[in-house]
Amino acid sequence: MLSNVHILGIESSCDETAAAVVEGTGEVLSSVISSQLDIHRIYGGVVPELASREHLRNIVPVVREALGQAKLRYSDLSAVAVTAGPGLAGALLVGITYAKGISFAAGIPLIAVNHLDGHIHAVMLDARRQMLEIEMPALALIVSGGHTHLFFANTDGTYTLLARTRDDAIGEAYDKVAVTLGFGYPGGPVIDMLAAHGDPGRKQFTIPSMKGNTLDFSFSGYKTAAIRWRDAHAKAGEVEARRNLLSTTPSPTLEQWLELTPQATLDLLASFQKTAIDNLEANCRAALERTDARSLIVSGGVACNSALRERFLGGAVPVPAYFPAPRLSTDNAVMIAAAAIPKFDRGEFSNFNLDAEAGLRLDTGRPYAESTAGSR
Ligand code: KG4
Ligand code: ZN
Repeated sequence: MLSNVHILGIESSCDETAAAVVEGTGEVLSSVISSQLDIHRIYGGVVPELASREHLRNIVPVVREALGQAKLRYSDLSAVAVTAGPGLAGALLVGITYAKGISFAAGIPLIAVNHLDGHIHAVMLDARRQMLEIEMPALALIVSGGHTHLFFANTDGTYTLLARTRDDAIGEAYDKVAVTLGFGYPGGPVIDMLAAHGDPGRKQFTIPSMKGNTLDFSFSGYKTAAIRWRDAHAKAGEVEARRNLLSTTPSPTLEQWLELTPQATLDLLASFQKTAIDNLEANCRAALERTDARSLIVSGGVACNSALRERFLGGAVPVPAYFPAPRLSTDNAVMIAAAAIPKFDRGEFSNFNLDAEAGLRLDTGRPYAESTAGSR
């Protein structure tokens, strides 16, 4: 019945301009992602103004390409879904404005999707493809450069927020530790690769745990610990050598990194990664004890991490864990179209007053009243 439903998804919340067409059955007809990594890399993080400018430049060709790959015209679409938040306001606006235009011109419904709901649906879509059934209710852990959230996913498709970061997101910690030590941006993939060559037991990261009975996370201490270690061990020359490598070689190979990275630094990276993952595991285990969740869904860019996958898929938590394929873990538009399918079924459409909401919450559907730290 749903094979004649074609949803165009658009994602522009951070530094990826993405569009995809997904059938009502969950079949992915196309997925196009234009990454701005090379633009933001030299600044060591995403520059919001540059992100908006690049989205403006890319949105038209990216959407056209997604339709072309799916061999569809605008008139074949059933709905257009777009990320409404959380994210960078200016970046979100580019996607939202374009989606409104398509909705108006093609006379099809507009569906607003929460970016975090998208990340969770990436896992559900992948599980469905592999004929796996995720037992509900579930815990949903979203770990990326902008988010570290732990939700209780109810059977009726609603969410309860159990925990979030009080400061930096875990991906932000990877990125900041990497920049501090001369490994460039983004830090996740390179630290993932190099930590496998270090001994996590040789240098202990001492990160204060959150006080009280909270399940919240805190990741800002990792960067400070990395700076202290770098300065206490006179690592300026070593860090400079790696920065020089990056200035001539934007994506060094493992061998090139290893040549410039002594064992003590590899041990530090391994220790950082182990401590951060220990943190995630401890809070997930505590949340599982407090709830009747029957499975654990993990998504977001950091869900690409091999040590995290190995740990959680290897039985670290007492329920089955589910991760999306790496290409669906980082930001993409397939997940936005996938999250829109149940909304399309329920007729949950938006009107043209839809606005970008930088701090949009997944549980209440409204913005955070307080600081948006960790909720982008
Ligand atoms: O989901 P995403 O593409 O964008 C945001 O919504 O933030 O996640 C990007 C983040 C970056 O912080 C990046 O360093 C991290 O995901 N990341 C990883 C890995 N691959 C990407 N972190 C750890 N290990 C990885 N393999
Ligand atoms: Zn994301």
